[in-house]
Amino acid sequence: YTISVAKSGGNSTTNLQYGVMEEEINHCAEGGLYAELIRNRAFQGSSLYPSNLDAWTALVTVEGKGKIGLTNEGFWGIDVRPQKYSGSFYVKGAYSGSFTASLESSTSGKTLASVDIKSKSVANKWVQHEFTLTPNTKASNVNNTFSLKFDASKASGGSLDLNLISLFPPTWNDRPNGLRVDLMQALSDLGPKFLRFPGGNNLEGETIDSRWKWNETIGPLTERPGRPTTWGYEETGGMGLVEYMEWCDDLGMEPILAVWSGLALNEDVVSEADLDVYVEDALNEIEFLTGSINTKYGALRAKYGHPKPWTLNYVEVGNEDNLNSGLASYTAYRFAAFNDAISKKYPHIQVLASTIDMTLPGTAGGDYHLYDIPDNFVKSFDLWDSYNDSHPILLGEIAATEYNNGVGIDWSDYTFSLYPWWIGSVAEAVFLIGAERNADKIIGTTYAPYLMNLDSYEWSPTMISFNADPDNTARSTSWHVYDLFNHNHMTDTLPATSEDAFGPLYYVSGLDKKTNSHIWKGAVYNSTADVPVSLTFESIKQGATADLTVLTAPDAYSMNAVGGSNIVNTKTITIKAGKSGAFSFSLPNLSVAVLTTN
Ligand code: AHR
Repeated sequence: YTISVAKSGGNSTTNLQYGVMEEEINHCAEGGLYAELIRNRAFQGSSLYPSNLDAWTALVTVEGKGKIGLTNEGFWGIDVRPQKYSGSFYVKGAYSGSFTASLESSTSGKTLASVDIKSKSVANKWVQHEFTLTPNTKASNVNNTFSLKFDASKASGGSLDLNLISLFPPTWNDRPNGLRVDLMQALSDLGPKFLRFPGGNNLEGETIDSRWKWNETIGPLTERPGRPTTWGYEETGGMGLVEYMEWCDDLGMEPILAVWSGLALNEDVVSEADLDVYVEDALNEIEFLTGSINTKYGALRAKYGHPKPWTLNYVEVGNEDNLNSGLASYTAYRFAAFNDAISKKYPHIQVLASTIDMTLPGTAGGDYHLYDIPDNFVKSFDLWDSYNDSHPILLGEIAATEYNNGVGIDWSDYTFSLYPWWIGSVAEAVFLIGAERNADKIIGTTYAPYLMNLDSYEWSPTMISFNADPDNTARSTSWHVYDLFNHNHMTDTLPATSEDAFGPLYYVSGLDKKTNSHIWKGAVYNSTADVPVSLTFESIKQGATADLTVLTAPDAYSMNAVGGSNIVNTKTITIKAGKSGAFSFSLPNLSVAVLTTN
């Protein structure tokens, strides 16, 4: 390949190329990113998943002596190490004794940390008790439990009501009700530029009534009822609207808020006549986030500790409204109702439809999702080249999910990989390059789903996988591709010409105006030999140097597994532009590369 890159004539990018998509699925937040260690902490339930005692067992005593109570097994284990754990629980009932909170090893039977808490408990009123636990040593594994005990002989009537029993390890930025440090580290290292939330199917709800209701995810935890996710389990609401925004603050991500659009997964649709209340609800949600403290919902945000309004530039209406027989009503009235109301009140907000399967009105953008086999990602390399540039598109969910099978995914019978695997990650890189080439049309791209608790999940593969042990967290092969692309950020694309057609080498070139570094990204897919590249930049002269980073893996099916080590090989060399000003190098099959001039 002989490639010449012009010094001007490209497009500026949104600066949001790569982000994160988050919805409650795979216990990604409940039992994952949301750092709460106690599963089923408030016995929350709904019509879909009635309240139960999952994860809890009763502690009884022999012959009624000593303390009784209950034990929680955590989200399939509890990580115990020498650090401060902040706990809290609510009690109702007159009790003159003390409580004992402890962490115990199920492997050795030993108590790893324990604290006595003097009762403040009274009859007929919920009273909160707080405590801390500080183990001296790291437990040998996560097979540990949390117990809360009391002396029944000192409780009026021999029993007490307990609820909202919570235990947090240290969190990212020490936020109360905050996020798990190792997962935030994996996200922070990736440098994501936006967060699309809170769904995904989980936004939509199984039924209209079980949709994600923003106003039930704010304020004190005692006032968050929780809800049935669309992924087979109940969520507590602990990871709510404010927590999502704090997450954006902590990682410098642009929020892309999805509002409920009048369609549930069971195909129930709100009629045109009844839609107003939901449009109003979306406006209230936006006011809650962005309104001054003189507005009704801005004042509520201030009451909950955030007087300063957040900035919101993107709002998506619904999720995949082209599915579940939603397209007709979405096209006929639902999208227009939300789009018109949001654009009128907040003209600076870029409204996105949750599909591109319709004629997008005015300046509205769209959202495109792609789950496919690697070959089809590569076939989609030029998907955006012929796309009209008047409607910006978010690539809000993409992932190579299933091995090449000559066809694509049969959604009635699919076999998804447990983790991203190398050939899939390279194919994604080809597609990402195709998106970067069309910077004037594509807002940015995110993998989905993003996180998976290996002990309880519904959908693989994901960008990051984990279990209760933070030392086991796996940054996938795709994580390494996005990491490389994200940290070599183009503010502008630059046109490139070559007599050699795309395939097996796919590439994009551009510039980071902030550093004046020229950037070239390439991926090789399906080549029988190494691919020689001679790359010239119009404004780079002989003798200039560049760093070339190449990602490879031991074989096409290598993957990064929970508890395993990283199989992606990252090699960076410095090369010099030769006589003709060309950087010459060659790339092996199934490689992803970035060259940046110094
Ligand atoms: O990412 C998993 C699911 O895939 C999302 O919830 C949905 O939007 C898509 O169909």
